[in-house]
Amino acid sequence: MIEVRNLSKFYGSHRAVDSISFSIAEGEIVGFLGPNGAGKTTTIRILTCFHPATAGAAAINGHDVFTESIKVRSVVGYLPENNPLYPEMRVREYLDFRGKLHGLDRAQRRAAIGRVSERCWLTDVIRRPIGQLSKGFRQRVGLADALLHNPKVLILDEPTVGLDPTQIRETRSLIQDLAKEHTVLLSSHILPEVQATCQRIIIINRGRIVASGSPDELRERVSGESQTIAEVQAPETDVRAGLEGLQGVTKVKVASTNGWTRATVATKADLRETIFRLSAEKGWAVRELRREVASLEDFFVKIVAGAIGGSEK
Ligand SMILES: Nc1ncnc2c1ncn2[C@@H]1O[C@H](COP(=O)(O)OP(=O)(O)OP(=O)(O)O)[C@@H](O)[C@H]1O
Ligand SMILES: [Mg+2]
Repeated sequence: MIEVRNLSKFYGSHRAVDSISFSIAEGEIVGFLGPNGAGKTTTIRILTCFHPATAGAAAINGHDVFTESIKVRSVVGYLPENNPLYPEMRVREYLDFRGKLHGLDRAQRRAAIGRVSERCWLTDVIRRPIGQLSKGFRQRVGLADALLHNPKVLILDEPTVGLDPTQIRETRSLIQDLAKEHTVLLSSHILPEVQATCQRIIIINRGRIVASGSPDELRERVSGESQTIAEVQAPETDVRAGLEGLQGVTKVKVASTNGWTRATVATKADLRETIFRLSAEKGWAVRELRREVASLEDFFVKIVAGAIGGSEK
């Protein structure tokens, strides 16, 4: 549904987007994740025909974004970053105006406005001036606008930025709902945002794609970061000596209180069973034994810092 090949965008000599390639299949919901200035908005503007690219190719639903912009716009609903709206217009008036721009006739506009205002829970505020609405409601107006011409693809640039936690949850659930009928590409600089909504994540940093995959696939790429935590009733020195003697242990941290020693063991393998056997052998009582695997958040922070080698997929 979306095909991007070796796309680049230079601002003068600055490479905002540096030869990126990815494809998104029909029905997918994909998160475009990256820190500020990574090139998300630039890529999205190219895909939505607001910006020319310097090099490369991109197509949506088979339409070239450079030469068939009218066809592309007819299949894409776009929610821009900092969604610009006209504050003095009423919601219905604004959607009607936008519908005219899409070339919908009076009857089509009436039907479309009814459909999108219901879909985006706007029915109660349809006569209110946009300027009087809360940010969350304004964002819904932006989504309703993007949906007016019933596009196959939705491209949303930071759809929940600036919203409070309740509004974030509502907007996320609305997007997930929309993803049942539309192919969705959304951008964010916040990992939990895309983790909560998307099936697949494309991580972009300094204009390049540094990783992509499902949240689980990305998590699997974090190697050497897991640790086993054990709390046993034994002196600190005994626990340290016992654990340091185990195979595959790279580092042991211990702290004791009231005869109990809490050890954090850095290892690649899952050592819970081995530590349990060791404790039984030594006669230590065990009150905690668990494994902590590195989070996707750790992965994101490291890959953006360049600590994990990236690869395009
Ligand atoms: N019109 C422009 N002229 C010059 N440089 C630009 C322009 N627009 C963006 N840039 C630069 O291109 C790079 C990518 O910007 P872009 O807005 O695409 O990032 P982003 O990933 O959307 O970031 P954010 O999370 O802050 O929205 C940045 O270094 C930015 O400063
Ligand atoms: Mg942006």
